[in-house]
Amino acid sequence: TWTTDSFIEEAVREVRAQVGDRRVLLALSGGVDSSTLAFLLHKAIGDQLTCMFIDQGFMRKGEPERLVKLFLEQFHIPVEYINASDRFIAQVKGITDPEEKRKRIGYEFINVFESESKRLGPFDFLAQGTLYPDVIESADTNIDPATGKRVAVKIKSHHNVGGLPPNLRFTLIEPLRMLFKDEVRKVGTALGLPEEIVKRQPFPGPGLAIRIIGEVTPDRLEILRNADLIVRQEVNRSGSYHDLWQAFAVLLPTIRSVGVMGDQRTYAYPIVLRMVTSEDGMTADWARVPYDLLETISTRIVNEVKGVNRVVLDITSKPPGTIEWE
Ligand code: XMP
Repeated sequence: TWTTDSFIEEAVREVRAQVGDRRVLLALSGGVDSSTLAFLLHKAIGDQLTCMFIDQGFMRKGEPERLVKLFLEQFHIPVEYINASDRFIAQVKGITDPEEKRKRIGYEFINVFESESKRLGPFDFLAQGTLYPDVIESADTNIDPATGKRVAVKIKSHHNVGGLPPNLRFTLIEPLRMLFKDEVRKVGTALGLPEEIVKRQPFPGPGLAIRIIGEVTPDRLEILRNADLIVRQEVNRSGSYHDLWQAFAVLLPTIRSVGVMGDQRTYAYPIVLRMVTSEDGMTADWARVPYDLLETISTRIVNEVKGVNRVVLDITSKPPGTIEWE
């Protein structure tokens, strides 16, 4: 029978046998899969593991700092922090097509990954947080050339931090490949990962770049970061964080509407609130959150976020909508 402890024991033994005294590289995203993997590998092989966190500049406010601090100071697992935001911003400059945007971010991730792994290496192994659903799905799916990730039905090309760069010569280590998501959470918890990571809402690989509809610019990122922070703060405060699959803000920077503030006319961008419930992200329903919560979020965003004068609510389920807007 499967128990968390027996799984960890067995996985640690296998990893040690496979790796010996060689070195392993892991791309950390801050999500539950790559974080659990980092804990497991660190337990097994200690400083033969190198964790690399590539900041593409599309993370939420305070997130890169928080992640690095958690790993260094609380978990005592070293992380190589790579700030590549200039490179990613340059890649998406002028790009408005969602697929093109995703592809460019995916390619740039591979470029940065390649050069940084050379700089920090050499490495013998690449660790990936592949889960069982990815393994069983792989039978009749395609590999997305942009991201190296298996995609089932190509509605959006997915980009995952840790997605295998197709032409890198590493041997793969995938200790989580027999686990479902809920089992990963249990393993992560048993290894000491805090709830903050284990119960975190999903966040897409391309990050805020796919929540700015149209061209991504530093100014737009700043607006969205500020709005997103308010959504997160208020959803947390209301106690509904764990009831929601995701709750986030989307910026429509090509639309402006008229408003009034004090006795001044305003002409600024709308923020869309996207809040959904879901079991697995494949289907989703818009969340019936309390009006009070909507009211607080709306008031705070319009008052506190410069450049925004209107907040609207997305009430589309998936299907026919998708959770993200791009
Ligand atoms: P959609 O928008 O397709 O999203 O309904 C379904 C779930 O997947 C997340 N998502 C991503 N996750 N890389 C990821 O790791 C991606 O490129 C990506 N795109 C969407 C989305 O946040 C939702 O939870």
